[in-house]
Amino acid sequence: MDTQRREGGHLKRIQSLEMRGISKSFLEVKANQDINLTISSGEILGLLGENGAGKTTLMNILYGLYHPDDGEILVNGEVVSLRSPKDSMRIGIGMIHQHFMLVNKHTVLENIALGFDEAPFFFPHRALRDRIKKLSVQYGLAIDPDKPIWELSAGEQQRVEIIKALSRNADLLIMDEPTSVLTPQETVELFEILRKMTSEGHSVILISHKLDEIMNICHRVMVIRKGRVTGAAPIQELNKGKLAQMMIGRQIALAYPKADITPGDKVLEISGLDVDSDRGLPAVRNLTLTVKKNEVLGIAGVSGNGQQELVETITGLRKPLAGSIMMKGKPMDHADARKAHTLGITHVPEERIKYGIVPNLLLYENSVLKQHRDAPFSNWVQMNYNVIKDHAGKLVDGFQVDTPSVNIKVKNLSGGNIQKLILGREISGGPDLLIAAHPTYGLDVGATEYVRKQIIELRDKGGAVLLVSEDLDELFMVCDRIAVMFTGRFMGEVTPDSCTIEQIGLMMAGSTGSEA
Ligand SMILES: Nc1ncnc2c1ncn2[C@@H]1O[C@H](COP(=O)(O)OP(=O)(O)O)[C@@H](O)[C@H]1O
Ligand SMILES: [Mg+2]
Repeated sequence: MDTQRREGGHLKRIQSLEMRGISKSFLEVKANQDINLTISSGEILGLLGENGAGKTTLMNILYGLYHPDDGEILVNGEVVSLRSPKDSMRIGIGMIHQHFMLVNKHTVLENIALGFDEAPFFFPHRALRDRIKKLSVQYGLAIDPDKPIWELSAGEQQRVEIIKALSRNADLLIMDEPTSVLTPQETVELFEILRKMTSEGHSVILISHKLDEIMNICHRVMVIRKGRVTGAAPIQELNKGKLAQMMIGRQIALAYPKADITPGDKVLEISGLDVDSDRGLPAVRNLTLTVKKNEVLGIAGVSGNGQQELVETITGLRKPLAGSIMMKGKPMDHADARKAHTLGITHVPEERIKYGIVPNLLLYENSVLKQHRDAPFSNWVQMNYNVIKDHAGKLVDGFQVDTPSVNIKVKNLSGGNIQKLILGREISGGPDLLIAAHPTYGLDVGATEYVRKQIIELRDKGGAVLLVSEDLDELFMVCDRIAVMFTGRFMGEVTPDSCTIEQIGLMMAGSTGSEA
């Protein structure tokens, strides 16, 4: 045993943990195949892999939620049987899921009490309050125990989950994509907490598909692709390029080259725009922006700060209260999606399944969704199916949509392939303006890279692009300028080469550009 740790008083029950030869299938999907994983006290292990690689499945097995078809789990060299999360927690394994499992109307204290087997409302609240206080001081988990959950930000709710796990003596904490709901500032704070935990002998398994984060916080990384381990190494032997390669099996470009062009004429001009949300609350206030030819303007911000309403207004789906929108010098003052389209605006929407496609229509029908009444797809009397299918075939080839044919229902394609099809449809005609909202959300690394490159190509060829994204890496890689939106307003504008992610993070949390 590690005497240094014992002397430091940080001896944990889990000194080492090993998953050996773990396999798990769901019907014909082999989610995990012969996976080996080890982690020791004080270590942060990054678990990296594309969507669907099998990360959550593996962690659900470790947390006792799923039972492996094959393989065993050893703690401190001894085989353990984890039949339920109760077994796992007893041993010292805690897990924080992607979606928090807190009761909204209860307070922090009540939620933490609920985690105990003892009748929760008779639990000695005084003792628990002291314990929460001690843990918050020890690990920097600032939280008000008497606030109801619904009043807390995502970052604060996550802290409650961490305190909940720690108060139940979790030595090993599994976190499934913990930063996907956080602002950059909150992410920095979370990592500080994790560092404190590991310095006290806790261990952490961090699931992420953000390469920067993995490089920043993890001691070791294990990469899973299609249910199998494709690599594992200490962080010192890795870099982002290598990680990405392990994830997708080939090298990706981490920064995208752009043609060196001075932006041309103004394409979209918005000034003094006010828009309300569905609930009648201010969503966009006094917003002014311009996007020119050969330019990508990015809009950064935590979701829910008016981005969606802004996009809906520009694409003619929502009526503004005040302000003007000009497209190539022509006013667009009435909500009219068809007019927006005729003026040269195309749209890759946020909810792509809901608004980007008609799932039950065939691929070729979806390939002309908003243009099906126009020549050459229709002559006003009837649709010209040969021309449409030919067009669909070209999109499939040109935009690398992986499909057996253009005659299948679009709902049978994977998310990445649906997005490639939508993007292809929206940009193949060389639109003057593309509005793309979270175009790579939920896509795997390969499809993400492809979509970003297509956006840049459109810009290089003379298109103007408004890119709304929560992924700062994406904005830095793709945009010429980035405006940061907070409570319906622009806090400031930056160029990717003259600002840091931290500055943007501060603006996303409400500081103006000059303060940040
Ligand atoms: N409960 C389940 N039932 C059926 N299939 C599942 C279930 N959980 C996961 N899968 C499948 O197993 C594969 C791995 O999924 P998952 O572990 O969630 O991946 P990741 O967390 O890496 O995105 C996917 O193909 C997914 O559809
Ligand atoms: Mg997952």
